[in-house]
Amino acid sequence: MLNKLSLKVALIFFVFIMIVEVLLFSVLYTNLVSNQVDEVLEGLLARGSSHRDVLEKSFDDITLNHVALMETEAATDVIITGKNGEVLSKSTEATKEIIQLIDHENSINVSHAGKVIEDRWRTAPYIATLSPIVIDGELVGQVYMFSPSDAVQNVVNELTRQFVIIGLLTVLLTIITIFILTRFLTLPLIHMKQVTERMSTGETDISLETTSRKDELGELASAIQTLASELEHLKRDRNDFLANIAHELRTPLTYIKGYADIAGRSSLSMEERGHYLDILKEESEQLTLLVKNLFALAKMDQNQFSIAPEQVKLCDSLEKVVKRLHPVFDEKKVMLDLNCPMNVEAFVDPERFQQIMLNLLDNALKHSPAGATIRISSEMQQGVAVVHVSDEGSGIPVEELPFIFDRLYRVDKSRSRASGGSGLGLAIVKEIIRLHDGKINVKSRLGEGTTFMMELPGGKNNG
Ligand SMILES: Nc1ncnc2c1ncn2[C@@H]1O[C@H](COP(=O)(O)OP(=O)(O)O)[C@@H](O)[C@H]1O
Ligand SMILES: [Mg+2]
Repeated sequence: MLNKLSLKVALIFFVFIMIVEVLLFSVLYTNLVSNQVDEVLEGLLARGSSHRDVLEKSFDDITLNHVALMETEAATDVIITGKNGEVLSKSTEATKEIIQLIDHENSINVSHAGKVIEDRWRTAPYIATLSPIVIDGELVGQVYMFSPSDAVQNVVNELTRQFVIIGLLTVLLTIITIFILTRFLTLPLIHMKQVTERMSTGETDISLETTSRKDELGELASAIQTLASELEHLKRDRNDFLANIAHELRTPLTYIKGYADIAGRSSLSMEERGHYLDILKEESEQLTLLVKNLFALAKMDQNQFSIAPEQVKLCDSLEKVVKRLHPVFDEKKVMLDLNCPMNVEAFVDPERFQQIMLNLLDNALKHSPAGATIRISSEMQQGVAVVHVSDEGSGIPVEELPFIFDRLYRVDKSRSRASGGSGLGLAIVKEIIRLHDGKINVKSRLGEGTTFMMELPGGKNNG
C-alpha cells in the first residue's frame, strides 16, 4: 500500500538523490576514461622511446629489423623512417591510414621526448606516437608507434560496462533505501490518521506507540493519545452528568407521583388534600426551577446566553438584594451586614449580578445557624470591583472545595435536597462571572464559615 504522502516524499528524495548521483558518476566516469586513455598513450610513447634508445646506440640494419620483428609479435606496430622520411623498417604493411600519419615535414622539430601525433581514439583507426632518433646531435630518423584504437575502445567499453552495472545497483539501492525511509516516516503518520478516524467515530480506547520515539512524530502520537484520553474523560463526564440529571429529575417526580396518589384518595379531608396539593405545587416548582437552570447552563455552554452589561453602582444593586431577602433572613434570625462605599461601580449585567448575589446569599443562609451574621462587602481595587460574601456557617471541607462549582455537585447530598438545592447554583454563578470576564474564589474553614470572593470588571470610569 503506497500512499500519497510516501509517494511524494519518495519522489522528491529520488529525484534529488538521482541528480547528485548522476553528477558524481559522470565526473568520475570522465576522469577515469581520460586517465585510462592517457595511460595507453603514455605506454605507446614509452615503447617507441625505448626502441629509439636502442636505435640510437646501434643504428644498423640488424637492429632496425630486430625492432620491427619485435613489434610484429605485439599488438602495437612500428615504422622507422630515415633522414628524409623514407621507410627504413616496419612491422606491418603501411596502410593508407598509417601513411597519412607519417608527416615528415612536421616531425623535424619534435623534441627528443617525442609526442603523441594521434589521440582521437574514438574516430581515428589508430592512435600514434613519434620519437625522434638523434645521434651525435643530428636527427637521423623517427620511430613511429601505432596502436589500433580498438584497444582503447575496448578498455573504455569495459569501464562503461562496469559503470552501467554499478549505476543500476546504485539506483536499486537508492530505491530500496527511499522505500524503507518513507515507510519509516509515513507509517506512524498513517497509523495516527487511522486512529483519529476511529476516534471521530466515538472510539476513545486507542493505543499509539508513543514511548519509543522522542521526535516530532512521537510527540504527535502522544498528543493524540492525550486527546483520546481527554475525550474519554469528557465522555465519562457527560455520562455522569446525564445520570445525575436523570437522578435529579427522578427524585421529585417520585415524590410528585406519591403525593398525587395520596391526594387522589377519596377518604381525604379537604384540609389534608389542600396540604398534599401544596406539596405537589412546591415539588413541581422546584422541578421547573431545576429544568430552567439546566437550560440556562446549556445555553451558556453554547455561548447563546447573552449578557447585557452596563455601568452599575454596585451599592444600589446590593441594597436591592438585601431588601428583597430581609424577610427570609429575619425568619431564620440571621443578620445581614452590608458594607459598601458609594464609589464601587462595575460593568455588569444588573439582572445577572442580582442572580449571583441571590445564589451566594441563599447558600450562606442555608448553611448558617440562627444568630449568625452574613457580611457583604465591596470595594474598588485597581479598577476592579471586588465583592466578598462571608458567613459564619458550617463551612466546606477542604477536599470538597475544588468541586463545589461543578454542576449538580452538593457537599451534603441528602440535606441539600431537603433544602431545595440541586447543586446548580454555584455552577451558574461561575458561568455568569466567566461571561463577565470576572473571577470567583472561595475560602472556607469547617465549622467557622465560608467566604466567596468575586472580582468584576470596574468599567469605563475605572479603566
Ligand atoms: N456558604 C456555604 N457554606 C457551606 N457550604 C456551601 C456554601 N455555599 C455552597 N456550599 C456547598 O456547595 C454546594 C454547591 O452549592 P450550589 O451549587 O449552590 O448547590 P445547592 O443547590 O446545593 O445550593 C452546596 O451543596 C453546599 O454543600
Ligand atoms: Mg445553592
